[in-house]
Amino acid sequence: AIRGHFFDITAVAEGAEAIAQRARNIEDGLLLLDEGRIVSLVPWEEGRAQLRHEQDYLDYRGKLIVPGFVDSHIHYPQTEMIGAYGEQLLTWLENYTFPVEGQYHSPDHAARMSAFFLNQLLANGTTTALVFGTVHPQSVDALFSAAQRLEMRLIAGKVMMDRNAPDYLTESVEQSYQQTRELIERWHNNGRLGYALTPRFAPTSSPQLLAAVQALREAYPDTWLHTHLSENLDEVAWVQALWPEHESYLGVYHHYQLTGKRSVFAHAIHLAEQEWECLRNTDSSVAFCPTSNLFLGSGLFRLQTCQQKRVRMGIGTDVGAGTTFSMLQTLGEAYKVAQLQSYRLCASEAFYHATLGGAHALDLDDKIGNFQPGKEADFVVLDPAVTPLQTLRFNNSRDIYEKLFVLMTLGDDRNIWRTWVNGKCVWQRDALEVAA
Ligand code: GUN
Ligand code: FE
Repeated sequence: AIRGHFFDITAVAEGAEAIAQRARNIEDGLLLLDEGRIVSLVPWEEGRAQLRHEQDYLDYRGKLIVPGFVDSHIHYPQTEMIGAYGEQLLTWLENYTFPVEGQYHSPDHAARMSAFFLNQLLANGTTTALVFGTVHPQSVDALFSAAQRLEMRLIAGKVMMDRNAPDYLTESVEQSYQQTRELIERWHNNGRLGYALTPRFAPTSSPQLLAAVQALREAYPDTWLHTHLSENLDEVAWVQALWPEHESYLGVYHHYQLTGKRSVFAHAIHLAEQEWECLRNTDSSVAFCPTSNLFLGSGLFRLQTCQQKRVRMGIGTDVGAGTTFSMLQTLGEAYKVAQLQSYRLCASEAFYHATLGGAHALDLDDKIGNFQPGKEADFVVLDPAVTPLQTLRFNNSRDIYEKLFVLMTLGDDRNIWRTWVNGKCVWQRDALEVAA
């Protein structure tokens, strides 16, 4: 059992107002756990009777406990290239990304970087992520093995690409199909792990490759589909040139029946009306990646349109085009992207997108995303004020919404005090302090 200040959104909702109505703020609460599951979250006065001994709880008072963050789009093999200077998407891929991803043919490198990457997720309070590997199957073997040891709910996949990339990162359609199939058999629904079919994006896919992805999706209908969509204007023009017979970028994926529930399209910035309609009609999801979109100069994600069209949306860091693993910082940047379009992203809506909303976008909202009984016990213990400036500002905040908003604005990994996965504390800041 854990005693402390809890905040979550109790049910899936659409729109800021509906989300705010479902916000639950329990300043002195008791969370009961059993074997990695949540039994209940109730106010302390109500819960204390359920304790066998009055002292039978961890005392996290003074901290703020929220559901674990869900990062709905990230590339683990780009960890070592964050902050690559000077390019927009297509030349950034060529000059920086591909050479770095080439390193992941080595299982040792993949294992080292997997451990580093997962530690970064946990150090930032992220307990679930939808992750790109590289084209090498050994890259995802390494990541899944490491995630399994931590009992994380993680979805990942090997990149599939057969054109418009260096030879050392491309493969035949047959090889892509076979290797993906083997990985699905090994990892999909293995404990808390899930597999995502991961064609990089339309420009690096031949029609035959997308047909192979379609065949895999038909064979394994509960796998995820994870790719990029309409991130950059040159990219959109390139897709038009490569796929002239399709009327839009999303139309290419839709033609191969790669839209639908559990399909997650990263970015979705430059979309036509019909593409939004198609996302909605197929119940597809998009990942909004504000730090990446600003860093690569890609454009402004239309948060309000996404809501009006009632398209499922999660927040992604998109490391390494994204500039941070921190979902707190990412929410702060999402707020600014919305501001530039006169949309006001309030704290409860922002935290929803980073938790239950992200879980909904990944079709995992029956398992994670809040403190409802029966959910898996993935959560973050935030230290709401760790610097003099944060302390000053925190003490000058009226209510939980202002405190959460200040965390989005001034917060980062220093505010993550404990991270719990599947009912166990798997990361703690003091261990870091002792080591240092
Ligand atoms: N589009 C295709 N590949 C990538 C990638 O690695 N990162 C981003 N941000 N966009 C992409
Ligand atoms: Fe990406």
